[in-house]
Amino acid sequence: FDTGQLSGKHVVITAGPTREALDPVRYISNHSSGKMGFALAQAAAEAGARVTLISGPVNLPTPPQCERIDVISADDMLQAAEHATSDCDVFIAAAAVADYRPANIAEQKIKKSGEHITLTLTKNPDIVATIAGQPTPPFCVGFAAETQHLGEHAQCKLQRKRLDMIVANDVSQPGIGFNSDDNAVSVFWPGGKQQLAQASKQQLARQLIQLMAERLSATQPQ
Ligand code: PMT
Repeated sequence: FDTGQLSGKHVVITAGPTREALDPVRYISNHSSGKMGFALAQAAAEAGARVTLISGPVNLPTPPQCERIDVISADDMLQAAEHATSDCDVFIAAAAVADYRPANIAEQKIKKSGEHITLTLTKNPDIVATIAGQPTPPFCVGFAAETQHLGEHAQCKLQRKRLDMIVANDVSQPGIGFNSDDNAVSVFWPGGKQQLAQASKQQLARQLIQLMAERLSATQPQ
C-alpha cells in the first residue's frame, strides 16, 4: 500500500443507506451501515487524497482528514454528489441508495385503516450513472450488491452506468456485505477483473484504493 499514490487527487465517496420518507415518522431504507464507504474514505485519505465523504444516516465516526457531508434521501445525496464532484478525480459510490421513493410524502402521520394499504413508489435518480454521464466525468467506481449471478449482473451495471470499475459483493452470503465487518468482492473493469478474498472492510478498502489508483493512472497517463 503506497501512502502517496493519491496525493493531489480529490476523491468523493458515498456511503451508507438513504432514507425515503413516507410520512413525518416513517421511511423506507435498507441495512447498509456505512462501514464499507467509511473504510474506503479512510484508505483514500491514507493514500494522500483529499476526501469528501457523503454519508446517509449511519452511526460511525468520521475518519481522520475527511470532509463529511450528511444527507438523508437519494435526492439529497445526488445534489451533494453533483456539487462535490465538480472538481473531483475519483468518484466511489459505495452507498446503498434506495431505487424507489414514495410517490407522495404524507404531511401527517398515515393512520391505520383497512387490512391492506398500497404504496406507490417513484424511481429515484441514479447517482453514479448521473456523475458518470457528465461531459468530463471523474474516474467512476460503482458497487454492485447482488444475491445471484454476481459477475453477470455486475458487468451489466459496469456497462449500463458507463463506469470505469465495479466492485461486486454477494450480499446473500452470511458474514459479508451489508452491516458486517468483513467483505469479499470481485472487481471488474473494461478488459479485466480481480477477486479479493474475504477480509476486514479496512483491509479490503486499502486493496481497492490501490487497484483504483493503478487503473486511474493506466487510463489517464500523465
Ligand atoms: O454499508 P455496509 O454495511 O458496509 O455495506 C456495504 C454495502 C453492501 C452497502 C456496499 O458494499 C455495496 O454493495 N454498496 C452498493 C449497494 C447497492 O445499492 O448496490 P446496487 O447494485 O443497488 O447499486 C449499484 C451501484 O449504483 C452502487 O454503486 C450504488 O451506490 C449506485 N446507485 C444505485 C441506485 C441509485 N439510485 N443511485 C446510485 O448511485
